[in-house]
Amino acid sequence: MISIAPSILAADFSRLGELVREIELGGADRVHVDVMDGHFVPNLSMGPIVVEGLRPVTKLMLEVHLMVTDPLKFVDSFLTAGADSIIVHLEVLPDPRPLIRDLRARGKKVGLVINPGTPVETLVPFLPDIDLALCMTVWPGFGGQKFLPESPGRIKAIRALIERHNPKCELEVDGGIGLTNGTAREAVLAGANVLVAGTSIFAAKGGPRAAVGEMLRIAP
Ligand code: DX5
Ligand code: ZN
Repeated sequence: MISIAPSILAADFSRLGELVREIELGGADRVHVDVMDGHFVPNLSMGPIVVEGLRPVTKLMLEVHLMVTDPLKFVDSFLTAGADSIIVHLEVLPDPRPLIRDLRARGKKVGLVINPGTPVETLVPFLPDIDLALCMTVWPGFGGQKFLPESPGRIKAIRALIERHNPKCELEVDGGIGLTNGTAREAVLAGANVLVAGTSIFAAKGGPRAAVGEMLRIAP
């Protein structure tokens, strides 16, 4: 069973609420909120106010991908705004255990994400305690990039680690995931079960609702 996590980074912000309703109708089970601070990644995107705006209009899980140098500075404000899940980069938080404990105590979900250059083994000490491991399939910072060719091997390796250390942990991928380029299928075949997709959903000719539905149907 795969889940689709449309990334609103690619959405038309003048119609954000309407588009989130569309992806909900299409069968998405979460909204992926890409937060960038212009420092950890060379782009500035959105803050808690976007989560606050979406919270009253959707029941979908709001998962926040913190591409920021100091994630601990922002966790409270995103939780207060209504976020259900916080995903932080191991590159900036080498010991996420206090954060994991804090989010657990607050009944929230926690994910760890690694960049393409970070060894997958870095996740191992924390896999038993997290809900989601995110394997970046592009260098973070912008939507519309190309899926990196080394990604399937990394996804396979993380799948094996999850099976060994915490089979309940989700394996999410993010970056360049689409139907027409075959990367959604490739990622699922390699072991991913949550697909973040921005451009391929919100720029789809048939609209986001149909695009989510189509992506759900690629599961092998
Ligand atoms: C990278 C972002 C993007 C976004 C998805 O920093 O995290 O990967 O979610 O973008 P697309 O699906 O357009 O590649
Ligand atoms: Zn993301």
